[in-house]
Amino acid sequence: MKTCGALLVLLCCCLAETQLRGETISENDITHQGRYGEAQRRNGPAHTPEATAAASTQQTCQPDIHTVLREMNAVLAEQRVTLMYTKTQMEAMETRMRANENKAETMETRLTASEKTLEEQRVVNKEMKEKLEEQAAAVRAVGGSVNLTGSQVEELRREREERRVSFSASLLASGHGNTGPFSAPTTLVYRHIITNIGNHYNPNTGIFTAPVRGVYHFVLFVIGEEHASTPTGIILYKNGEHVIIAYQRNPNQTVTPANAASLLLEVGDVVYVKLYPNAWVYDNQNHYTTFSGHLLFPM
Ligand SMILES: *[C@@H]1O[C@H](CO)[C@@H](O)[C@H](O)[C@H]1NC(C)=O
Ligand SMILES: *[C@@H]1O[C@H](CO)[C@@H](O)[C@H](O)[C@H]1NC(C)=O
Repeated sequence: MKTCGALLVLLCCCLAETQLRGETISENDITHQGRYGEAQRRNGPAHTPEATAAASTQQTCQPDIHTVLREMNAVLAEQRVTLMYTKTQMEAMETRMRANENKAETMETRLTASEKTLEEQRVVNKEMKEKLEEQAAAVRAVGGSVNLTGSQVEELRREREERRVSFSASLLASGHGNTGPFSAPTTLVYRHIITNIGNHYNPNTGIFTAPVRGVYHFVLFVIGEEHASTPTGIILYKNGEHVIIAYQRNPNQTVTPANAASLLLEVGDVVYVKLYPNAWVYDNQNHYTTFSGHLLFPM
């Protein structure tokens, strides 16, 4: 570029000088023509010293301009090549930049996807942690000795709940007195609830219904007034069949017959107590006369 400038300056200088000289020449020419006319008229055609000098200056300047122009051409060509090279390089750089931009975009997309995956993983981890904690709690609940799934734990819990079967009831909810005698066996409704875990004994009907298959233990205690001919007696029934009897009669003192039995019951089997025909039972707020039942174990 510097070279080009320098050459341009040189060219300008040269042209200006030539022009200046040209003007001088024309001036000289005019003055000379005046004189030349005179001289011509006087001496015929002749060269003045000024005209000769101007001609020689013109001759030395012209080859310089050509050289300068050639050099400038060369420089321009060189510049063009440089420019083309620079343009190519810039284009390459632009392409590279665009490629980098694309790469950056791709990486950003990937980063976003990774972040999303990470978040999802975090949620899954949380769920798994909760499940593990649940399982650990379940294992602790059964002594840490067995592996249990959630449904198994639920089943165990339900079984445990079903196992909790126990009731005790006494005959009179209030007051005191004899019940009976009646000629036919009559169901005794033990109305005073002492315990009724699982509510499988019904104090309105006197009937116990087995919730699970298993062995149940039933206990009967009765008190009866002394009487010469009226006994104190009750019968334990399972599904309409009598199983055991508690019976006693004494004319001189109160009687306290009792009995107990373990029964294998199916789900829905019913157990209840009936008054023995023509017998009576006594009860008061001391709750002497009771009916109790307990599930010993399921089968
Ligand atoms: C608990 O379950 C896991 C997976 O089902 C099993 O690999 C492991 O042996 C089990 N442990 C016991 C004590 O049953
Ligand atoms: C009841 O008392 C009478 C008279 O004391 C006696 O003879 C009888 O044996 C007694 N009966 C019973 C079952 O104890």
